[in-house]
Amino acid sequence: MTDQTQTWIEKDKHQLHPTYHPKSHANPLVIEKGEGVWLYTTDGRKILDGMAGLWNVNAGYGREELAKAAYDQMKELAFTSNFSGMTNLPSSQLADKLAGFAYEGLNTTFFTSGGSESNDSAFKTARYYWKRKGKPGKYKVIARKGAYHGVTLATTFATGLEKYHTMFGPAPEGFVHIPAPNPYRYEGQLKDGETVGQAAARELEEAILREGADTVAAFIAEPVMGVGGVIVPPDDYFPLVRQICDKHGILFIADEVITGFGRTGEWFALKHWNVKPDILSFAKAITSGYAQLGGIQISDEIRETMESAADTEAYMHGYTYSGHAMACAVGLKNLEIMEREDFPKRARELGKRLLEGLKKLEEFPFVGDVRGLGLVCGVEIVSDKESKTADPATAAKIFKAAEAHRLRSRPLGSTLAFSPPLSITEDEVDEIIERLGAAMDGIG
Ligand SMILES: Cc1ncc(COP(=O)(O)O)c(C=O)c1O
Repeated sequence: MTDQTQTWIEKDKHQLHPTYHPKSHANPLVIEKGEGVWLYTTDGRKILDGMAGLWNVNAGYGREELAKAAYDQMKELAFTSNFSGMTNLPSSQLADKLAGFAYEGLNTTFFTSGGSESNDSAFKTARYYWKRKGKPGKYKVIARKGAYHGVTLATTFATGLEKYHTMFGPAPEGFVHIPAPNPYRYEGQLKDGETVGQAAARELEEAILREGADTVAAFIAEPVMGVGGVIVPPDDYFPLVRQICDKHGILFIADEVITGFGRTGEWFALKHWNVKPDILSFAKAITSGYAQLGGIQISDEIRETMESAADTEAYMHGYTYSGHAMACAVGLKNLEIMEREDFPKRARELGKRLLEGLKKLEEFPFVGDVRGLGLVCGVEIVSDKESKTADPATAAKIFKAAEAHRLRSRPLGSTLAFSPPLSITEDEVDEIIERLGAAMDGIG
């Protein structure tokens, strides 16, 4: 390590990092530049970013056009309040562009600065909606075990991963978790003849009945679970979920913070199953990580319910940076790039190549399952293929070995995730597969 890098690391000690333990930040990679899918460290390493940062840098690093959009907008107007009767041009243009873009009938956007705020806003909007409908008792949120929805107090406890709860309890009331439709290792009970999709959907209906439909505001789900280990649901799951939500009068919130804007091969992932949510949460790829922006889109029915509210029932919710002018200008430019370069098509084609290449690694005795949709893939490591026993320790070793081969993945328990920029080339996809294979070769 160079002296200069050591100096940066010393300075970094004054920073508290996300999901922090001092041990895990003893020797961070200090990144100073990015280009395409490549990251460059201060000590001269060139790393293939197989995760597009945190599943978000879909357009790849170093795009002049996005830098220029930010610069031009900052010079003109970086920020103005979007509260109390004001708006700005980029936020109105972006809201207009997004109207009906994801799903027909979702024509209204509320902007946030990221995914946690988006999901928090989704929960509050669901509660608001039911109060306006004269059903104030509907406040609970049903989510899935293994889900990740963010780290505000509410989204922490909507998240279905206990390690995020341990140090932050007690949990606020009203968050209920049901099994996720994991085709590789389903943790619920399968009844005779039931598919995993049917069983996991039945769990939703049973939870609604157990809690009482008159107490449940919404069901939230990531179409493809990310942090929970890249879980691609069976095809029958989401159509059944939609039916159950309709039958019991429950709003369906799609958390497309990872899957939105092309990642899975469709602009938005529920399209794979022809299903439409009532509220859509997005963030990350809207700006390819070049600016902090997220939001929710609401159905016309929710919008109309807001329109008819009394003066005392205003939507008293909003962030200083809701509709931030610079962030929205970057979002607009990024959408232009994503459409011009047809990111969903790239994700379909290059995702197929990535998945097929990763599947070849199933010949290793510790690779239990390789799965994915578009350009988001998971490689699950097990100690025994027969019993499918999860092996996070070996996954961590492979992650470290891949780092030595200058490949960045993300260890999520026993699963290594890959979610590279959608601008990745065929050769770079092959590099991911080769480097991971080389890393696995070294594992005893
Ligand atoms: C599915 C999902 N929802 C919400 C979030 C939270 O987003 P943020 O970290 O921008 O608050 C994440 C972050 O990874 C996510 O993966």
